[in-house]
Amino acid sequence: MRTQVAIVGGGPAGLLLSHLLHLHGIGSVVLERRSQEYVQQRVRAGVLEQGTVDLLRDVGLGERMLREGEVHRGVYLQFDDERQHIPFQELTGRAITVYGQQEVVKDLNERRRRDGGQVLFEVSNVAVHDVATDRPFVRFTFDGVDHELHADFIAGCDGFHGVCRDAIPAGVRTIYERVYPFGWLGILATVGPSSDELIYANHASGFALHSMRSATLSRFYLQCAPDEPRDAWPDDRIWTELRTRLGTPGWTLHEGPIIDKVITAIRSFVAEPLRHGRLFLAGDSAHIVPPTGAKGLNLAVSDVDKLAEAIADFYRTGSATGLDCYSAACLQRVWRVQHFSWWMTSLTHHFGGPNAAFERRLQRSQFDYLRSSTAAATTLAENYVGLPTR
Ligand code: FAD
Ligand code: DHB
Repeated sequence: MRTQVAIVGGGPAGLLLSHLLHLHGIGSVVLERRSQEYVQQRVRAGVLEQGTVDLLRDVGLGERMLREGEVHRGVYLQFDDERQHIPFQELTGRAITVYGQQEVVKDLNERRRRDGGQVLFEVSNVAVHDVATDRPFVRFTFDGVDHELHADFIAGCDGFHGVCRDAIPAGVRTIYERVYPFGWLGILATVGPSSDELIYANHASGFALHSMRSATLSRFYLQCAPDEPRDAWPDDRIWTELRTRLGTPGWTLHEGPIIDKVITAIRSFVAEPLRHGRLFLAGDSAHIVPPTGAKGLNLAVSDVDKLAEAIADFYRTGSATGLDCYSAACLQRVWRVQHFSWWMTSLTHHFGGPNAAFERRLQRSQFDYLRSSTAAATTLAENYVGLPTR
């Protein structure tokens, strides 16, 4: 088999890259390890930056998102039972949209299908070869048959647990990593939201986040121990903790059946550079942020936007300048977002240890500063809604 760009991974990064390349008249094949049903049901991100929404709309993927996504003009920050509003629209003129990642993935798959795109699901034994030459290829098994996919470029969009990152030799690659002493328990409940905006809460018992998906579906997260089994969190315990951590006088939490429950480890991670020869990493395969800033999906979109432009420029003009600048251009945004995500995490979570009491006083002080200073609130707001993408 031969294509122009072999894309490993059919998550948001891989599928969007394939679509953007198609708009430039460039062929690609997407190789995805899981089934289509699995990737479309996997509950993950929910918050889209304005720049992500604008890009998806401009490339013809906005129809359902603009109809069903909910525009939010701010968020609440809470310290114990004191809640304050950060008005994004007022401070920055920009907003966010709540639209589930699996809906974005459904829209992308549907559009790739309609445009005759090649997305192969349930492939196995994926391995990339000869990436440092100008004849790279991917070996994989599909439907019980071994294949070789030859391409001009390989895009590693295979997430944090993929195989592409490891194709960059250890001597070339530098890993920057921070692992946090807690995880997130995420749940989806069939009950209407209890708030008009997301609530990020720092409570003496730990962090909690109230998000939503629709008028009948709410999403919640609780800081938990990183290695806790899901069984340690029966539904009663979850609702008790959410009531405690999100509670303010006069406010009621609406409770309903829990239909999804997952514990995720929290980490900051960057692999530099994002390119080796003809292999380009994009999205979670190159970097992970703690989810507190709601940035991972948005960063993946920003990467593939740059990559598609660079590849298109190469085919159009023969110039490799865009490809040569890709890694550095992405890393500039990656580190801004790393800082913001770490900062939001540090503001709202309990890290424990001997400095815990000191750190909580610092968090309290920062919370008060955000309330009293428009400059401080604007810094949070402009990072949260997303800095300009280009
Ligand atoms: P992935 O979505 O991981 O896709 C990679 C794909 O590659 C997968 O489909 C995988 O099956 C496939 N794959 C892996 N290995 C192979 C292989 N060897 N061969 C073939 N295919 C392979 N981000 C936000 O922007 N906003 C949020 O609100 C937000 N909230 C989050 C909440 C939680 C609890 C979590 C866990 C994440 C959240 N994120 C959020 C992050 C966001 O979900 C990720 O950053 C995003 O999924 C990255 O997309 P991706 O395509 O790079 O990687
Ligand atoms: C959601 C996830 C996040 O990580 C976040 O910071 C805000 C919202 C969500 O899934 O809705």
